[in-house]
Amino acid sequence: MRSLIGILDLSTEEIDGLIRVAEDIIANPDAYREKCKGKKLATLFFEPSTRTRLSFEAAMYELGGNVLGFSEATSSSVAKGESVADTIRTVNCYADIIAMRHPKEGAPLVASAKSQVPVINAGDGGHNHPTQTLTDLLTIHREKGRLCDLTVGFCGDLKFGRTVHSLIEALSRYTGIRIVLISPDELRLPEYMQNKLDSLDNVTFTETKDLEAAIPDLDILYMTRVQKERFFNEADYIRLKDSYILTPEKLTGAKADLSILHPLPRVNEISVAVDDDPRACYFRQALNGKFIRMALMLMLLDIQ
Ligand code: CP
Repeated sequence: MRSLIGILDLSTEEIDGLIRVAEDIIANPDAYREKCKGKKLATLFFEPSTRTRLSFEAAMYELGGNVLGFSEATSSSVAKGESVADTIRTVNCYADIIAMRHPKEGAPLVASAKSQVPVINAGDGGHNHPTQTLTDLLTIHREKGRLCDLTVGFCGDLKFGRTVHSLIEALSRYTGIRIVLISPDELRLPEYMQNKLDSLDNVTFTETKDLEAAIPDLDILYMTRVQKERFFNEADYIRLKDSYILTPEKLTGAKADLSILHPLPRVNEISVAVDDDPRACYFRQALNGKFIRMALMLMLLDIQ
């Protein structure tokens, strides 16, 4: 029995395999309609979500299985003081696989240690969000046809953005990756992540505050939301929240085949006027999240 807590739990070969299965699901959906017949997914969401929870649920339904769970801690017995460990042991009685989001970093790891069924980390605090990373990798692969030899700009909240940290770790395993970090000083990529990048031979990185100056070199622009829920001080959030707003004007110098990604939800950081640009991939990215989660659940349930 295997869980997925961080993206580094998967080998590069396994990630490539999941992308292959997801692309096969897209090409041959009928072949997968009954693969999870009789299986149940529990979605335990202690923090808000639209895409992750609903795409997990849609993924299980499209595989022929069923779904149970809760979408806020207040509707479970956690509100009465029940521990994560007891919640997981209980849910083990009812479900074959668990997707769990929790505000506390490490909570899904604790859950996996107590669980007899696979636990998938659907986001833990500012720490990890491995299925978003798989979604991002599938999107890049579908848009570009490769995961190597790419210049990737990460823009916005690089400090608290867990999707940024996981995607950088995953892309670092491929060759010819050039990373451009675009953020205000206060939201720079944490030093431990910069040190990791420094130690890798196959990845280079640069830092800038200037989004417009960086755009012409990029193959991928990964925009992020400033993570209000991770700030201790509202005044700091208000000062930083609109640091970057991508508009059609700012894309004037961009490559014709730039791919603009965003894990969503967005607040202000991409103007809605960008949505009709064919280079805007973020809603295709949200759709890809369902296909890669289908592939992941098949793998963790050991279903061919
Ligand atoms: N990208 C993402 O995790 O979205 P949700 O918070 O809506 O699940």
